[in-house]
Amino acid sequence: MTLSAAQRRFERSVAIVTGAAHGIGQAVASAFVREGATVYGLDVDGRGLEQSAEALRVGAGRFIGIQADVANPDDVSGSVQQVLAAMQRIDVLVNNAGINMAKRIGELEIADWDRVFDTNLKSVYLMCRAVWPAFERQRSGNIVNVASVMGQVGGVGSPAYCSTKAGIIMLSRCLAKDGAPHGIRVNSVCPGYIDTPIMDRVLDAMPDPAKARAQLRSRMPLGRLGRAEEIGAAILFLASADAGYISGTELTIDGAVTATQID
Ligand code: NAI
Repeated sequence: MTLSAAQRRFERSVAIVTGAAHGIGQAVASAFVREGATVYGLDVDGRGLEQSAEALRVGAGRFIGIQADVANPDDVSGSVQQVLAAMQRIDVLVNNAGINMAKRIGELEIADWDRVFDTNLKSVYLMCRAVWPAFERQRSGNIVNVASVMGQVGGVGSPAYCSTKAGIIMLSRCLAKDGAPHGIRVNSVCPGYIDTPIMDRVLDAMPDPAKARAQLRSRMPLGRLGRAEEIGAAILFLASADAGYISGTELTIDGAVTATQID
């Protein structure tokens, strides 16, 4: 669907989206491109980035992939410098890259803990720190971090993953206060169960994946899992001028899964 100039909220904007090769990140990148942004997608998966670039050719904006590990400080600073050298500004940062870690405390090795914390939480710190000087110089900037309902209510069998997501929520709030005097807004989104490759991997690891998928769907108040595009739409709203007075908060996008504790 082609949008009119009036509908393109991100014309001339520069956005960085991490984890843009698949799932939610690709949907976020696609939505920004449709609305006219130049999007730099960071991901460890170079082949996946090429596929994203191919798929996103049709929008009003453009997509450029940068192969990078967001848990690696050199990759992060190098990528942000590359974007600044090419565009001289960054308007939006979406920290979306993440991995799941479905291991209970007894089987959770120190290396597992470090890997999930480095990928999910340290990466957010590194990316925010890297764009911050440019945001302060510009006196504007927008960060949306992808947390999870697992960081709000917790979940069985993934204490490390849930802790990283809770950490993202708190880091976002703290940075919102730091950034406010400089015109920087920071928020997080908390998706529920979204139909993406990460979810496929979780369900495929179950003894009966088809049954597990049907059971999960039956637990959804709206009768279905969320779509990556629905998370993309919420992220674009938070990054847009329509959300100009929203900072330091979380937006839960879970089809009412966590709306009540008692069924
Ligand atoms: P996905 O597995 O489909 O995509 C994640 C992307 O991040 C992949 O392209 C992967 O290559 C990239 N990535 C992983 N580690 C990286 C690293 N070190 N450096 C750069 N890129 C890296 O997963 P999905 O579902 O799209 O998840 C995106 C985010 O949404 C994650 O943070 C996840 O925790 C979060 N989330 C997902 C939910 C779901 O139900 N799918 C629910 C709640 C949160």
